[in-house]
Amino acid sequence: MGASISSSDSRPPQGIVAVFGGSGFLGRRIVEHLLSSGVAVRSASRHSQRAGDAEKGQAHASSFTHVEADMRDEAQVARAVAGARAVINAVSLYSEHGDTTFERVHVVAASQLAKAARQAGAERYIHISGIGSDSRSRSKYIRARGQGEEAVGAAFTGATFVRPAVMIGKDDALLSTIARLARTLPAYPLFGHGETRLQPAFVEDVAEAVARLTIGEARIKAGPFEFAGPGVYTYRNLVLEVARLLGVQIRLVPIPFPAWYALAALCEFVPGAPLTRSQVELMQIDNVADAGRPGFDDLGIESHSLDQVIRAILEKS
Ligand SMILES: NC(=O)c1ccc[n+]([C@@H]2O[C@H](COP(=O)([O-])OP(=O)(O)OC[C@H]3O[C@@H](n4cnc5c(N)ncnc54)[C@H](OP(=O)(O)O)[C@@H]3O)[C@@H](O)[C@H]2O)c1
Repeated sequence: MGASISSSDSRPPQGIVAVFGGSGFLGRRIVEHLLSSGVAVRSASRHSQRAGDAEKGQAHASSFTHVEADMRDEAQVARAVAGARAVINAVSLYSEHGDTTFERVHVVAASQLAKAARQAGAERYIHISGIGSDSRSRSKYIRARGQGEEAVGAAFTGATFVRPAVMIGKDDALLSTIARLARTLPAYPLFGHGETRLQPAFVEDVAEAVARLTIGEARIKAGPFEFAGPGVYTYRNLVLEVARLLGVQIRLVPIPFPAWYALAALCEFVPGAPLTRSQVELMQIDNVADAGRPGFDDLGIESHSLDQVIRAILEKS
């Protein structure tokens, strides 16, 4: 399986790109990479402009707009994708609340968005999912991600699927949590024995890859793309490496997964849900790219290592 991207024409393509979830951790970087390439962007999310959006609006006054749109609302979606030449879905849902279920957002709304993009005449559609997506998984979250890919593929023929590994970078959920706990706790609580394997990807590399897939003269033979960094770590080794780079001495303490599920169930009631059961579930499953699938190399991107990312974050903090 492979992909070929040709970019003989370096001029930015005409027409706007609509980015759903354009204010999120990955989405806002995708927006920035597109704007830097001279592409006009319409960012869509439920809430009014955040600080970053206001800055982008000033820096790219003629090429950046933000629209308030809920992916579950067909009329708002139709307005948000009107006239777009490409549409990207970077919307997340990590814990279910009431009728906001994984199926509702990652399957039903995702396929409606793809259908609306097709009806609006978009030439390209990029769906962000995750490594390990599997429509037959026993996990409700992983199953919804897999079913979402299938539903989007049916709604938009030729849609491009992007599966990032766990992403790291400034303001991430993984490294910043490890660093905070390593600096403050007398003993570091591991997920189980910390044997789950992870291959973290730098969020800026993933955003650049998505921008290239969106604007390149792409003839993508096959997907999905799986984007993961150059190093594979057990969770235990990842924690030790972060502590080493921070210059912190830590003592690791294995915590059984049932205890984590109980804690996550409580955390889901806390605003901002610092830990969810679907995140704990993901920490039980290896999150490593399938070497047989296209990835960064196919787009000419040299991915950043964990050390490079941590050093870059430390320099900026
Ligand atoms: N973060 C990772 O390490 C990671 C790893 C692998 C895959 N992924 C995938 O990458 C994608 C982006 O993840 P992320 O971590 O960047 O997410 P995030 O930081 O939580 O951002 C989510 C974005 O979606 C918007 N959003 C949420 N619900 C919406 C709705 N109903 N309608 C419209 N917009 C909505 C949010 O803005 P509002 O709240 O204002 O609507 C926000 O802009 C997701 O598919 C995620 O599963 C992430």
